[in-house]
Amino acid sequence: MPCPPQSSDELVFFVNGKKVMEKNVDPEVTLLAFLRKNLRLTGTKYACGTGGCGACTVMVSKHDPVSKKTRHFSVMACLVPLCSLHGTAVTTVEGVGSIKTRLHPVQERIAKSHGTQCGFCTPGMVMSMYTLLRNHPQPSEEQLMEALGGNLCRCTGYRPILESGRTFCMERSDCQQKGTGKCCLDQKEDGSLGVKSDICTELFSKEEFQPLDPTQELIFPPELLRMAENPEKQTLTFYGERITWISPGTLQDLLALKAKYPEAPLVSGNTSLGPAMRSQGHFYPVLLSLAAVPDLRMVTKSSDGLTIGACCSLAQVKDILAESISELPEEKTQTYRALLKHLRSLAGQQIRNMASLGGHVLSRHRYSDLNPILSVGNAILNLLSEEGMRQIALDGHFLAGLASADLKPGEILGSVYIPHSQKWEFVSAFRQAQCHQNALPDVNAGMRVLFREGTDIIEDLSIAYGGVGPTTISAHRSCQQLVGRHWNALMLDEACRRLLDEVSLPGSALGGKVEYKRTLMVSFLFKFYLEVLQELKRKVKLSSESTDSQHYPVIADRFLSALEDFQVTLPQGVQTYQRVDPHQPLQDPVGRPIMHLSGLKHATGEAIFCDDIPRVDKELFMALVTSTRAHAKIISIDSSEVFTLPGVVDVITAEDIPGTNGDDDDKLLAVDEVHCVGQVICAVVAETDVQAKRATEKIKITYEDLKPVIFTIKDAIKHNSFLCPEKKLEQGNIEEAFENVDQVVEEVHVGGQEHFYMETQRVLVIPKTEDKELDMYVSTQDPAHVQKTVSSTLNIPSNKITCHVKRVGGGFGGKVGRPAVFGAIAAVGAVKTGHPVRLVLDREDDMLITGGRHPLFGKYKVGFMNSGRIKALDIECYINGGCTLDDSELVTEFLILKLENAYKIRNLRFRGRACMTNLPSNTAFRGFGFPQGTLVTESCITAVAAKCGLPPEKIREKNMYKTVDKTIYKQAFSPEPLIRCWTECLDKSSFHIRRTQVEEFNRKNYWKKRGIAIIPMKFSVGFAATSYHQAAALVHIYTDGSVLVAHGGNELGQGIHTKMLQVASRELKVPMSHMHICETSTATVPNTIATAASIGADVNGRAVQNACEILLKRLEPVIKKNPEGTWRDWIETAFEQRISLSATGYFRGYKAFMDWEKQDGEPFPYYVYGAACSEVEIDCLTGAHKKIRTDIVMDACCSLNPAIDVGQIEGAFIQGMGLYTTEELHYSPEGVLYSRSPDEYKIPTVTDVPEQFNGLGESGMFLGSSVFFAIADAVAAARRERDVAEDFTVQSPATPERVRMACADRFTDMIPRDDPKTFKPWSIPIA
Ligand SMILES: Cc1cc2nc3c(=O)[nH]c(=O)nc-3n(C[C@H](O)[C@H](O)[C@H](O)COP(=O)(O)OP(=O)(O)OC[C@H]3O[C@@H](n4cnc5c(N)ncnc54)[C@H](O)[C@@H]3O)c2cc1C
Ligand code: FES
Ligand code: FES
Repeated sequence: MPCPPQSSDELVFFVNGKKVMEKNVDPEVTLLAFLRKNLRLTGTKYACGTGGCGACTVMVSKHDPVSKKTRHFSVMACLVPLCSLHGTAVTTVEGVGSIKTRLHPVQERIAKSHGTQCGFCTPGMVMSMYTLLRNHPQPSEEQLMEALGGNLCRCTGYRPILESGRTFCMERSDCQQKGTGKCCLDQKEDGSLGVKSDICTELFSKEEFQPLDPTQELIFPPELLRMAENPEKQTLTFYGERITWISPGTLQDLLALKAKYPEAPLVSGNTSLGPAMRSQGHFYPVLLSLAAVPDLRMVTKSSDGLTIGACCSLAQVKDILAESISELPEEKTQTYRALLKHLRSLAGQQIRNMASLGGHVLSRHRYSDLNPILSVGNAILNLLSEEGMRQIALDGHFLAGLASADLKPGEILGSVYIPHSQKWEFVSAFRQAQCHQNALPDVNAGMRVLFREGTDIIEDLSIAYGGVGPTTISAHRSCQQLVGRHWNALMLDEACRRLLDEVSLPGSALGGKVEYKRTLMVSFLFKFYLEVLQELKRKVKLSSESTDSQHYPVIADRFLSALEDFQVTLPQGVQTYQRVDPHQPLQDPVGRPIMHLSGLKHATGEAIFCDDIPRVDKELFMALVTSTRAHAKIISIDSSEVFTLPGVVDVITAEDIPGTNGDDDDKLLAVDEVHCVGQVICAVVAETDVQAKRATEKIKITYEDLKPVIFTIKDAIKHNSFLCPEKKLEQGNIEEAFENVDQVVEEVHVGGQEHFYMETQRVLVIPKTEDKELDMYVSTQDPAHVQKTVSSTLNIPSNKITCHVKRVGGGFGGKVGRPAVFGAIAAVGAVKTGHPVRLVLDREDDMLITGGRHPLFGKYKVGFMNSGRIKALDIECYINGGCTLDDSELVTEFLILKLENAYKIRNLRFRGRACMTNLPSNTAFRGFGFPQGTLVTESCITAVAAKCGLPPEKIREKNMYKTVDKTIYKQAFSPEPLIRCWTECLDKSSFHIRRTQVEEFNRKNYWKKRGIAIIPMKFSVGFAATSYHQAAALVHIYTDGSVLVAHGGNELGQGIHTKMLQVASRELKVPMSHMHICETSTATVPNTIATAASIGADVNGRAVQNACEILLKRLEPVIKKNPEGTWRDWIETAFEQRISLSATGYFRGYKAFMDWEKQDGEPFPYYVYGAACSEVEIDCLTGAHKKIRTDIVMDACCSLNPAIDVGQIEGAFIQGMGLYTTEELHYSPEGVLYSRSPDEYKIPTVTDVPEQFNGLGESGMFLGSSVFFAIADAVAAARRERDVAEDFTVQSPATPERVRMACADRFTDMIPRDDPKTFKPWSIPIA
């Protein structure tokens, strides 16, 4: 029932101190879109659009006329409806500070602490920290972690960001060495402090930071204060094209409107409704906003409970509960404590600031963290309508949505009453998610028991679970049957059986992980049982009335570890690096920790990314239409309906391509057939992004399914479906060597990985009117490839196409090949329509279409002696390449070449194949096969260790290269740096002492186990072809002495531009401040090679060096003649003498080749070496883990910039840790990727950084596997103790699910198991 069109009210709010008045505001517009498009404030970034990443964080300030207080809180602008902002003040990163005027200390410190790499997440980080400081100018470390918990960063690994935040925090006093200038983390095994004079630990200097001065902040606009106190109009209405937004100012008006529009949803935080309307197709013509109704924010404390207004945000609820807990006796606050526990880890701070209690309760999400606790805590819902108030119980019936127990049309939720707990009552909450924070739970639970006074006899029991059904499930029947029972082991056993029977989860249940979820249900119950038992004992001891203390079963100390939850702490650590030679001239920046050139601009939002380029005249927007079938014939594409929609300009299909449509087996736009879900079929071009996106839904494609449909590696092997021939390396005599040794034959499965660069794929194509020229602005690692692809697609020569890359918001290999596809499709649209075309993939499409790291299935057979010496190793690897070749052959080659890692094994056979499946094509990803392949090698070492009864590090040491030797492909190298890294890592990490401590801990704790692992790494750098190592640069010196450097590398966040200027500065002996890099462009440096393979800075640095040498040589006579002159004098003279001040530098590249026929070559110019040691603790009952400490030692020869290199190490390490622990892709049995948002795909967050994180030198992704093997070590300890076979099939990532299920015990034994043949699973494993 839409409202009749009338004239809208005016929306008034402030942005960065300036008043914004909007007539005709569209209720469908979000704050993010408005900031970026209307106000051109592009510092606030789009990265996911679902509230899951924090890139769009801004601060909202709002005055409450009742409390007379102004509240400042961070929000996700992508979920904030613009209409909800009437009367508020918004502060964006631009309003915080600017390099043009004044930097805010938060901005200065994040940049100078090296907390920015690509910089795409930085404005969001700044805003989260800024908001924290507005509320707490000297926050605690806990508050800092909490404030940043909702912000993702894919580059830095968080440590430097937290380090910058820590500079505002209250001083910690727990480092014993404080004041000595040394740190406890420098301790050697003998306990002494081993600080060497040529080693430096300072990457930035706190002394240069400006102090925080809270008086400098923007004040809340007085006009808004007046508006809040005396609103001119109570009810505001905004009419949009499709939706009407009504914001009543009083409860009475709200209830009248709800009676008038009973179907209209109420918008509170919009964190549930917004995503549902955006991506689940929910549409409501009228929305009723609760933003201006103060009655719904009231809190009442009574003698028996708390009544909290439905519109109180979850952050406010958290504060209210904390306050009540501090005021009331412990026994009354059981439910509040349980709620508070979950409120700490529910979503990130921004979502908790936005989401309301009422919205949360009424969303009735299956994963709701609060509803299970509220329901067992006997919460009551106070419902309001024009007819008055009534109460209903927040119980199983309400949660199940039974009409008799639900809101009636016209009713709203006014408040939630949560009663105090009673004396003999215990309430607890449990939750397990893929990672600790900002992750939806797999299973959660609220549990409450009430005992007959002074006894252990159950008087009342309630248990409710989330995540195991369509909504919160109450185990009412089981609980009733247990009333009257004693709280003992017999009761526990029966309770487990009853619960598993009552809350039955089908094998095909939504979200999968069925057996894990069943196990969690009973594991949580066991935890609750122990918790209550402990409390009962404590209570009985305290209570003078009872004498029955011996009645309660004794819990041995070693079982108490089941009770402790892992706490989140701010990571500590020391980063050490080689100090530059003290004789190095001060002005020479090479080897110094120089800040990223764009660091400050990242922090102020002034760094321009592709989609921040202002709209150009007549620009159109493109959206892609992708296949919904995995393998099918396209029968027809019907776009007739699309042209009736507003704003639609054209539909681009394969027929519109003037030149070549990609390769025969890898088309840009599908022709006749599709080979995976997510394959691009056609594209819509429209006036706005929203119009283009909406139009894609109206294109009707009919398919005819084709056979075979292959998703898994095993199926591909069965169908002989491969993308390229097998790659093989062999040495020694493998068959003979196996004859006289013990053997292990095992399998290893390594899941794929999504790049999750924060800036999704994007391109802007501007066709010029003259000579068919095109200007392209692309987020790519390889502009020359984009240029070449566009040239062949459009059938115009490359010299008409200029590709510009200013900076890329993260690439990690994902922007090597794919940007050319999107660039070419957008270019076809631009040429066909004659308009500039912008294509910005939303996160969902990006994840669906672009592919990622290849999942791997490995089989190994290893032959070894009792001593642990490996005599023979045969590894066969298969990677899931998806439906086209892309980089799969190269990945297979690199995988095979790198498989030996650090080990010298005489008899070896490595074989690799890339499988062709009906999945989106997998592509380049940091490490290029190495992180997956080497996991097989290291797993095999671990298996040998288990068989020999020796620690894995002994087997590693025994089999490591020791002297100058040749690799399996006969390339000579010296392992000396490898051994040095290994030894230093053992030493720095105090490995042996800690191994003993771990064993001691494990003896004392049954339900928690620790594990420690140290992993060596020999990582080859570069491409296996000489031509791929060439690089060029162009250096101009202008007559004012300023220098412009251009080179072939792209700035992806890895600081290549900073390093290049460091090189140029050293060579020309001119300060970096005189130098500039504008962009990477195919017009300045042609025929460039992709910035990848860890060699970009090296080869381009040599080209820059060469150009500078040429220039300096030309200047030499001038300088000689006037040695006292200034740089500017020399340049002016040189110009007058007609000396060219521009030079091209060139590096021909390192020699590299590989002959696969002869299995012989020198594929890599050089190696870098490293070792990492990690220690973890696992919770055997939930599968969760805590990273206790990581030490990394890397040898990377001379670092051009230690701050940047340390950042690369840590970033890669954390990314690797994500690959091996939390990042899990799920596919439906039809080949549809489910994991398409940060909600469903968990990259590490701030809380995942090891508690102690110490680094030396430069590292790679693979070292993250030390965490994986530490987890495996802990799991092995658990299995040993439980008498379960120690060896088991290794599966990466080591998710909580896999860890829990590997720690087999009586709970995993008790759950029902389904016969896989009897149901269709929710997801299928593809590795
Ligand atoms: C990124 C992200 C992460 C999240 N993580 C978690 C998590 O870890 N754990 C968890 O439990 N939840 C999580 N959530 C869900 C979140 O808790 C809910 O979305 C939120 O609590 C809903 O509150 P809201 O105020 O935003 O509701 P809205 O979206 O505004 O409204 C939701 C529904 O409630 C109705 N409604 C709202 N208020 C009233 C009222 N007073 N009377 C009647 N009807 C009303 C609306 O009509 C609508 O149907 C997450 C959400 C996001 C976006
Ligand atoms: S873009 Fe808003 S949270 Fe990701
Ligand atoms: S710097 Fe954080 S995402 Fe790149």
